[in-house]
Amino acid sequence: MLGRRTIVRLSLVVAYVLIAVLCVTSLFNDNEAKAEYGDVVINNYSDAAGMRPVVFPHWFHRIRFRCKVCHADLGFKFKAGGNDINMLKIFDGQFCGRCHNNSIAWGVENCVLCHSGVPNMKTRVHNSTSDRLVAPVAK
Ligand code: HEC
Ligand code: HEC
Ligand code: HEC
Repeated sequence: MLGRRTIVRLSLVVAYVLIAVLCVTSLFNDNEAKAEYGDVVINNYSDAAGMRPVVFPHWFHRIRFRCKVCHADLGFKFKAGGNDINMLKIFDGQFCGRCHNNSIAWGVENCVLCHSGVPNMKTRVHNSTSDRLVAPVAK
């Protein structure tokens, strides 16, 4: 017969194996884009134009460029949705288009990389890590 200690040890082993399996499978399931704290949703025109809202990953950019690059040199105002951005301006090399031009960063033809939001989401700074901003791309 198994003693109480052996049972406790066995259940611990089972628990560790389960945790290990969960960790490994989560590595493979984690191919869905997730929004992060501080992401900015920009949706002044996108929904109305039948495009998904734009999710701008602020921190991703902040660790690569000084604030001044965007907020002084490129003229981005410090306000979510406060910049009246449209695609003509972007194609013309303004705002996001100053870098997303296949030279500094990937180009404008990658629509869904910017227009990645859940439809109908309001323009705002995302300040929670629990709600989902990014919708999976429809197949
Ligand atoms: C580098 C990021 C980026 C890429 C790539 C991008 N957009 Fe946009 N787009 C924006 C931003 C930012 C706005 C302003 C969003 C708003 O206020 O709703 C916008 C707005 C729009 C709008 C509404 C305003 C307008 O100009 O009519 C449409 C439609 C649109 N995009 C279509 C597209 C299409 C189609 C593509 C791919 C060919 C694309 N976008 C690629 C960032 C991007
Ligand atoms: C790559 C460009 C880029 C860089 C670098 C950048 N920002 Fe921003 N920032 C933006 C954009 C784009 C927005 C949203 C503007 C919009 O929605 O029209 C924004 C919005 C903001 C806002 C307004 C948020 C709100 O509550 O409405 C603040 C504050 C801000 N940035 C601060 C900073 C600071 C501080 C730094 C440096 C540590 C920085 N940004 C670096 C592009 C940038
Ligand atoms: C100062 C230059 C600059 C500006 C302005 C800029 N970006 Fe970027 N962005 C980059 C660079 C560099 C990358 C990284 C490209 C790479 O990995 O090849 C990037 C990557 C991204 C990514 C992908 C993030 C990821 O997790 O891989 C998104 C989405 C994005 N930018 C959206 C935007 C939008 C929307 C705007 C305008 C509101 C914008 N960017 C303005 C330089 C810029």
